[in-house]
Amino acid sequence: MFTESVIYLDHAATSGKKAPGVSTAVAAYLDGLAANVNRSTYAVSSQAAMRVLECRELLASRFRFASPSHVVFTPGQTAGLNMVIKGLLRPGDRVVVSSMEHNAVMRPLNQLQRLAGIKIDRVPCAPDGTLDPRAILPYLHEDTRLAVFTHASNVCGTMLPVQEIGELLYARGIPFVLDAAQTAGHVPIDFGALHLSALAVPGHKGLLGPSGLGALLLDPDFSERLEPLLCGGTGSASDSEEQPSYMPDRFESGTLNLPGIFGLHAALSFLTDAQILSLDESERRLAERMLDGLVQNKRVRVVGLPTGAGRVGVISIDCLTMDNAEAAYRLETEFGICTRCGLHCAPSAHKTLGTFPQGTVRFSIGYGTTEADIDAALAALDAVTAG
Ligand code: ALA
Repeated sequence: MFTESVIYLDHAATSGKKAPGVSTAVAAYLDGLAANVNRSTYAVSSQAAMRVLECRELLASRFRFASPSHVVFTPGQTAGLNMVIKGLLRPGDRVVVSSMEHNAVMRPLNQLQRLAGIKIDRVPCAPDGTLDPRAILPYLHEDTRLAVFTHASNVCGTMLPVQEIGELLYARGIPFVLDAAQTAGHVPIDFGALHLSALAVPGHKGLLGPSGLGALLLDPDFSERLEPLLCGGTGSASDSEEQPSYMPDRFESGTLNLPGIFGLHAALSFLTDAQILSLDESERRLAERMLDGLVQNKRVRVVGLPTGAGRVGVISIDCLTMDNAEAAYRLETEFGICTRCGLHCAPSAHKTLGTFPQGTVRFSIGYGTTEADIDAALAALDAVTAG
């Protein structure tokens, strides 16, 4: 789909370039005998089921998670977060979040506030998106039933201190759900070390797989406390009209996104631990190059952290002399640079950063981004903001 003239800097929305082997794996499934899994015992179905199992194992291994049977495939990050939030919270419960959360967290919570009277405690982050972990303490109450925090902001890339947050929550017995939409595949994540109860990851961003697929990794004890959001056929326990209680069937009703899982399997086979570390390092270097260049442009303000430390390669700017939407439009139409402009489905984050309602122009770095892309984006921004 890409042409040579396009410079794609919207990896926070989805990875523009997929891992080697993804399209081949998807096509191999669809062009072969695209059999379903868990419904029949013939060999092709069993082979497909084996690939699904391997994909769970790869996900478990990437996130240092001990229970592949508790890796649940979801239709995406939003669905995974809804599954935890709505599966656990009941009328009158409290939930704690940061002020940097995406609407994939805030909209289901606001819906539950309206329908079930849950209480939302929002810990304010600093204007650069950072959070002192101890700032969450006054927001933890006797009846706090859940904590949901983003790992890194999808607006400005600032990372939250999730290690310290995990320890504080663990000491108080509050389940911790990590929204790793912008970090999975970009930086190493260790489920156990962070004391997580649930980790939600999208398959199509840093994991470099197809869209329409994500995963939810659930601590086994925690999973028993969640009500499934969807019930239906699982291909198992077919004598019963009740949802199976065992994993992962409890949370996987209906036919799985098998083309997506075949693609994600290929992506995860490419994304070894060493590969993730090397991508993390190169994306950090590219982010520093971009930030160094942006400092030279006095007609824009970098939103969030000014250097490469404490962040991922998601960089937002506020244009001081022109409308942000116009800047993004001209970057694309005159220079072929693809960015995302506006409020990025995260109004609370923009309010924290002081960029509501005007929003920002966001440049996000990912697999395939080069130094030449960064230099071209900086030069184009110079030209656009100059007049
Ligand atoms: N949440 C994605 C983004 O930030 C789609 O662009």
